[in-house]
Amino acid sequence: MARLSEEKIEQIRSSVDIVDVIGSYIPLSKRGKGYWGICPFHDDSNPSMSVSQELQIYKCFVCGAGGNVFTFLQNYLKIGYLEAVKMVAEMGGIPVDELNEAYTRPKVNDQLKPLYDMHEEALKIYHVMLSRRTGLRAREYLEKRHITDEVIEKFMIGYAPNEDTLLKGFGQLNFNKVDMERSGLIIEGTRQDYDRFKDRIMFPLWDSNGQVVGFSGRIYQKDRDEAKYMNSPESEIFIKGQTLYHYHEAKQATRQAGFIYLLEGFMDVIALYRAGLENAVALMGTALTQDHLRLLRKLTVQVHVCLDGDRAGQEATLKNASILARNGFQVRVIRLKDGMDPDETLEQYGKEGLLKSLASHMSLLEFKINYYYETSQMDNYDERKAYLDHLAGDLASLEDPIDQSYYIGLVSNKSGFSTDIIHEKIANIGGSMRKKIHEVPIVSHTKQGPLPSKYQKAEQCLLHYMLLSKQVSSQYEKKLGYMYDATYRVIANYIVDYYRSHDTLQIADFINVLGQDSLISAVLEIAQLHLPSEVDGKEIQDYIQTISQHTFRLEIEDREKEMHQEMDPVRKAEILKEIIALKKKLNELKGVI
Ligand code: UTP
Ligand code: MN
Repeated sequence: MARLSEEKIEQIRSSVDIVDVIGSYIPLSKRGKGYWGICPFHDDSNPSMSVSQELQIYKCFVCGAGGNVFTFLQNYLKIGYLEAVKMVAEMGGIPVDELNEAYTRPKVNDQLKPLYDMHEEALKIYHVMLSRRTGLRAREYLEKRHITDEVIEKFMIGYAPNEDTLLKGFGQLNFNKVDMERSGLIIEGTRQDYDRFKDRIMFPLWDSNGQVVGFSGRIYQKDRDEAKYMNSPESEIFIKGQTLYHYHEAKQATRQAGFIYLLEGFMDVIALYRAGLENAVALMGTALTQDHLRLLRKLTVQVHVCLDGDRAGQEATLKNASILARNGFQVRVIRLKDGMDPDETLEQYGKEGLLKSLASHMSLLEFKINYYYETSQMDNYDERKAYLDHLAGDLASLEDPIDQSYYIGLVSNKSGFSTDIIHEKIANIGGSMRKKIHEVPIVSHTKQGPLPSKYQKAEQCLLHYMLLSKQVSSQYEKKLGYMYDATYRVIANYIVDYYRSHDTLQIADFINVLGQDSLISAVLEIAQLHLPSEVDGKEIQDYIQTISQHTFRLEIEDREKEMHQEMDPVRKAEILKEIIALKKKLNELKGVI
């Protein structure tokens, strides 16, 4: 595929005004310095999306969606990055030969028709093959896993023989070679094309409308040394970030039940089906995207997350459940016994056992309380203290005092810190931050726990001016090189890096390099802080001083705790010496910089 230089992309981006582009899709009205519109990325009734002409970015203050003109088109029109770039180039009258020759995505459905047709045919062919002699061993495997004929029919499970079955079949149906390759089902070989899937059990993947758009093929032989599942590659009709397995079939049951189960793999969806539950979808190994959230939101706001019980699954649970909660979903978390997945639970404990496990769900906060407990070394003082930090923000944001006291009790039990101390700690989290967690759902806030707002503010302001000025950025690099907030630290590094190859920084271009939604969101927030546009050298020094003092103070606090716990008098004296040295440095800092 064609590659465009960074300069070219920046040229294209700045050839249009984001206000014109977004304004051509949704009505925008001018208010104050910016433009506002109804956010198309969540169910919005008041205009909560701001579009900044000055910065050439947009940001929704409710759902957190934000970015530049490319991101908007990508998300709004559900098109790829290159296509968005191409569209903008056309609008701005910038010729891009690099793109024209390479990638012409069909705009009309007619051009996608052969792809859908081929998948329908493939579905039939694979399905028939499973019942033939060639599919005997695959059938035996399914039987062993208690997949009955009824389930096979329901999920249209099939079998891809160990030969070029589709290639032959598609040829007879007069599909052309180019379309076959576009479908991802046929691979272009040096001498001859061939089938992607060979000797695998085939699970069709449907899009949200129930059209087959891809397949996942499972190996069934013990000794076969290949990936367990092979999936269709992304294509014009199969976009992983927009696909939730079983979504189209789960619609009705979800509306009836009032909630949906979010699972890891399709075998898990099948397991729930076997237990009589159809309100379930699977992520198929990816992280939740905004498109997934939009699909879910159409059905329900209540999601029961039940991923694998192993370490990776639990990590994914924390991540995905948090994304859901930040985006306004009501989340319940289910943990299955002994690190099993729903399918294994069904095998081990039967239908009743699985249903019982699914019924015992907990809040995200309770999950976090357990999760951090299990992943921290609680006999280590620092980790035990960090454990509190992980949870303090969430505890502080609980509005119901009964809830709060319940969860504080849990945390106290696990951490050994008294409920009084925990109360005191969360009381220190400023009201502003509490409000922020609640009202700005997607904006990333520090995962390290509460930060006295003065320091957080200093970090935000410094970042704001680093975005504006290369000089401030190099001042940061030379004098500080560190921020307390992990997210801000990452952003600061990106800024410093960016200035290595650029003299100026346009927010709308800079976010192209960030990639990650949460970072983009944080940068947009910082860029839009209402601060004087002139860089004031004195102010910058103050920020740097505030941040470095804070870092020193934390260091001193840590050392002091260490000293109090130390029994060995010699070691105690050594730590004291270090503390005195640190305090001296801190005092110097107050004077100099
Ligand atoms: P799992 O490894 O949890 O599979 O992967 P599973 O659901 O337990 O399947 P069985 O019981 O072993 O048959 C969960 C999901 O991750 C994706 C698949 O979509 C799968 O459903 N995956 C997994 C892959 O894409 N490739 C792999 O090699 C493995
Ligand atoms: Mn499994």
